[in-house]
Amino acid sequence: MSMTSADIRSLFLNFFAERGHEIVPSSSLIPGNDATLLFTNAGMVPFKDVFLGTEKRPYTRATSSQRCVRAGGKHNDLENVGYTARHHTFFEMLGNFSFGDYFKREAIQYAWQFLTDELKIPKEKLWVTVFEEDDEAYDIWAKEMQVPEDRISRIGAKDNFWQMGDTGPCGPCSEIFYDHGESVWGGPPGTPEEDGDRYIEIWNLVFMQYNRDSDGTLNPLPKPSVDTGMGLERIAAVMQDVHSNYETDTFVQLIGKVAELTGCEDLSQQSLRVIADHIRSCAFLITDGVMPSNEGRGYVLRRIIRRAVRHGHKLGVSEPFFHKLVPELVRLMGEAFPELAKAETQIVKALLQEEEQFARTVQRGLSLLEEAMQGLGEGDTLPGDVAFKLYDTYGFPLDLTADITRERGVKVDQAGFDAAMAEQRKRAQQASQFGVDYNAQVTATTETTFLGYQEVQASSKIVELFVAGEPVQHVAAGTEATVVLEETPFYAESGGQVGDTGVLTANDESATVMFTVTDTRYLGKGIGHLGVAQAELSVGQSLVAQIDDERRAAIRRNHSATHLIHAALRQVLGEHVQQKGSLVNEERLRFDFSHGQAVTPAELARIEKEVNMQVLANTRLATEVMAIDEAKAAGAVALFGEKYDDQVRVVRMGGYSIELCGGTHVAQTGDIGLFRIISESGIASGVRRIEAVTGAVALAYTQDQDAQLKALAHKVKSDVSGLAERIEQVLDKQKQLERQNSELQRKVAGNMVAELAANPTLVHGTKVVVAEIPGGEPKALRDMLDDLKTRLGDGVVLLAVRSESKVNLIAGVTKSLTNLVKAGDLVNQAAAEVGGKGGGRPDMAQAGGSEPEKLEQALAKAAAWLENALQ
Ligand code: ALA
Repeated sequence: MSMTSADIRSLFLNFFAERGHEIVPSSSLIPGNDATLLFTNAGMVPFKDVFLGTEKRPYTRATSSQRCVRAGGKHNDLENVGYTARHHTFFEMLGNFSFGDYFKREAIQYAWQFLTDELKIPKEKLWVTVFEEDDEAYDIWAKEMQVPEDRISRIGAKDNFWQMGDTGPCGPCSEIFYDHGESVWGGPPGTPEEDGDRYIEIWNLVFMQYNRDSDGTLNPLPKPSVDTGMGLERIAAVMQDVHSNYETDTFVQLIGKVAELTGCEDLSQQSLRVIADHIRSCAFLITDGVMPSNEGRGYVLRRIIRRAVRHGHKLGVSEPFFHKLVPELVRLMGEAFPELAKAETQIVKALLQEEEQFARTVQRGLSLLEEAMQGLGEGDTLPGDVAFKLYDTYGFPLDLTADITRERGVKVDQAGFDAAMAEQRKRAQQASQFGVDYNAQVTATTETTFLGYQEVQASSKIVELFVAGEPVQHVAAGTEATVVLEETPFYAESGGQVGDTGVLTANDESATVMFTVTDTRYLGKGIGHLGVAQAELSVGQSLVAQIDDERRAAIRRNHSATHLIHAALRQVLGEHVQQKGSLVNEERLRFDFSHGQAVTPAELARIEKEVNMQVLANTRLATEVMAIDEAKAAGAVALFGEKYDDQVRVVRMGGYSIELCGGTHVAQTGDIGLFRIISESGIASGVRRIEAVTGAVALAYTQDQDAQLKALAHKVKSDVSGLAERIEQVLDKQKQLERQNSELQRKVAGNMVAELAANPTLVHGTKVVVAEIPGGEPKALRDMLDDLKTRLGDGVVLLAVRSESKVNLIAGVTKSLTNLVKAGDLVNQAAAEVGGKGGGRPDMAQAGGSEPEKLEQALAKAAAWLENALQ
């Protein structure tokens, strides 16, 4: 095959390295210390401060292949992805940079040479543009590169003045275009047909000259510089003789994988391209620490993931699939970006979670949208409140809804959407101002029968309804409400166990979801199901209540494990252990207990083992309701200070654990699967907290720990069993090097002191040494000073060492001279110049300063002052 993307990447970097450019690895997608940018959107971003002159690097020429995201912010291509041959949310930008080194002429020469000599692109396939006022660039192209004038266009500021964001480095630019040939529609840059796909910009050469500040003023940069950017995907298309970026090697393989996972046989489907594009931005964003959320960068990530999932839906996939692309992506790009490979597990986990969360509502959201779109066609507008409901209840970002409606030429009423959003914000603010938790104020008048010890599903009847704390007879679809049922399998939060979630469906064959339950709580003796109505509901209506069974199973495992750890703690630590609180949900369990000191690692290991032994014993649980006295007599552990009814429920696990408990439990201890302690800490005086996980979560935790150990071992070139020994060796080696280093430092200092002592300056007959000790240690200054004073006999000394951010100064005056010069005065002459102040005795004084770049002038000033003082 022709040149691969990887070949092009290395050819480019080497071409510029041979011409004196430092190869700089790609930075993160999250710009360091730059609040003006959402994402790294060009190769120059990591060098912004170097262009501005506020950061110095040891080189003035650099080259890189920088990962970039253009979604959200100034350069936003999200909406174009899938609709053109050349737009991406994520891409790699090849670039060469000059920081006040070369300028227009070399930038143009290098680019032309790379394209025509190195890549051997025929000259007649290339077109160029310059900024309309830039005669200099025009002449270089026309006269020196001999590009025919009919293939050079002068273009205005909209396309040929590049800037990173609303503020920051910017300048006129010159772009190089590739002609994909007559078979593709489009015209050369500057013509009315330029938006077609025939002439595609492949390289942008920016002549950085200004810094735009926040009021729009252009301030000249310290030195004219160069920033160039060539999209790797676009140049790969040229070199692989294909027209679309999506036909290049990396994308063909990614798209193949998407097709396999979605079972889509028609490889020309736009959705395949969208998904292949999106997995790259999502995976790299997570690699760089972004997680899906409802604001800022996290929300952009969420929007991209959801757009990908929706395109999966279009291809008929309703199961989570997107995360399964990660291994293929790692195979394709992990070598060029090792950080991607390292983050693989984490990426898969984050994507899967987001997919699952969205999957719960996407189908219903799509049906709602489908209904709202009935009768709408080309040129119509979808009402803003529908878009808002999709956003609010079904998690559809606005651009996702717009993406769907656009397929039918329908626009979205953005103003209506914004108004609905503002309205909701106002309501939420009002509610939170008064700290309203409506359900805390509501008491149901009925008592609900709890069926959840045996059932996960039951038909029942609505006995009461509440909206915003008020009893009502009916609830409209889309309303947040609380439903009280006659009987229910939903467990209401109590005894540390969280409330169940699930759905209330129609009591007929359709089983339509009428209400989504996000939490369950006691309202007096009634059980309240909190959530959102999906259809109209009325008191008296019959429904089927169905809990999220999988979640409940995880909760059961954690709850039963809580009883086991309670018993194990008493076995291992002693009978003084008392439960002080607990929390049990589907993720983990938390157990607080009285104990005077930290539980040691060895004790924790024994406790963990005890519990797992009980799991292995696979004891059947027994529950019975009995009189409280009888329960206590049987040895049941009750919580101190807790009030119990006369009749109590007792949960027994063989003879090992017997507790009063109203919670839900596994049938046999073996159902817990695996038990792992993940942390132990102190939360108050005499109270400790253990957090633990069970079942699938415990397995995932264990595997993750394993993977981390292996990765660590790999890093130090060992295997897991040899890891401790290997780390020991590494630490020993480090100590040894540190020792050698201070030894050397001492020697160097000794030599330097001898040399300084042998060549003092004579100032009006007095021996004076004023010197910086390059690479010296602040700690060694005192010894050096004493040594110098001894060797000089009589004299005045000022020594300095500096690091990147600090200066240390020390002054010494031999006793014979302190009537002329005080060490404190001398040190302060220099300290004042480097932003510091010092003090000490007449014969010895020290100071520090924070402006190391001014050390030369500080020493000169002190020397001049001495000249006077010693007269
Ligand atoms: N920074 C320039 C661009 O992104 C090269 O086009």
